[in-house]
Amino acid sequence: MQTRILDGKKIGRQIRDEVGREIEAKNLSPGLSVILAGDNPASKVYVKSKTKACQELGIRGESLLFEDSITTEQLLEVIGRLNQDDRVDGILVQLPLPAHVDQRKVLEAVDPAKDVDGFHPINVGRLCIGDFTLAPCTPMGIMEMLRRENIEVKGANAVVIGRSNIVGKPMGLLLLHSHATVTLCHSRTRNLAEVCSRADILVAAVGRTALVTREFVKEGAAVIDVGMNRIEDEEQARSLFGEDSPRFQRFQEKGYALVGDVHPRDTLGRAGALTPVPGGVGPLTIAHLVKNTLLAHQARRS
Ligand code: GUN
Repeated sequence: MQTRILDGKKIGRQIRDEVGREIEAKNLSPGLSVILAGDNPASKVYVKSKTKACQELGIRGESLLFEDSITTEQLLEVIGRLNQDDRVDGILVQLPLPAHVDQRKVLEAVDPAKDVDGFHPINVGRLCIGDFTLAPCTPMGIMEMLRRENIEVKGANAVVIGRSNIVGKPMGLLLLHSHATVTLCHSRTRNLAEVCSRADILVAAVGRTALVTREFVKEGAAVIDVGMNRIEDEEQARSLFGEDSPRFQRFQEKGYALVGDVHPRDTLGRAGALTPVPGGVGPLTIAHLVKNTLLAHQARRS
């Protein structure tokens, strides 16, 4: 079967353009502050792309960078100041925080009206009852992709692998609100491949390189790969990409590659639709962050 590759870059660009047009047409001036504590290299890259995406659309995007040694109390003070600042519509605390910081206290300090990540318990509760404005960006971006690609959610069997607060749990809730029959799988799930093979929509968000192989995938299913894993082993790259593939050549030039939780070669020709890594879910997360910033701006002023 021909697998349709879902172009997250294109859809992310469409969403960002729509947000940009609305900001311009209504002469709005939203602002987003991103807090990064410590020097996690992946977090630094994410924060840079988040603030850049904002600035391109006329959103005031600032990143506040702190040493790894920052304390919980100091972070609470920063958040308190941002909560009071009327020019700031969105506050995002990049995770993971340094191990000594109390993550729960920090996330709960963010004003729920400015919580563009949708991580505050008030927003988690609102998402749970299905009456929400701000919900986590990655699952919201995925729902938008499914809608724009005409992938029917109503009545579908949806299986989510991973039960994180950032992706797995909110993903399950959003699919449920759109009338899918939802199964949330995790590390203790028995017969994982068999459970997944019943899915019309399969979302993999566990951070395990190429876990999802052919036998996990029902013929024609939509497979959404949230994983972003760095591989450096040549044998593994050869097996994942194929010796003669351009991706293997690029791996050899760079010495590493980014691979999702879905085996790229094994599932091609079996899935009906598949998000690539990179260029699938990643751009949707950023697009939804700018959208949430606009939503927070509008909701705070209405
Ligand atoms: N770390 C990994 N994903 C995310 C995300 O969506 N938001 C934040 N704040 N941190 C993350």
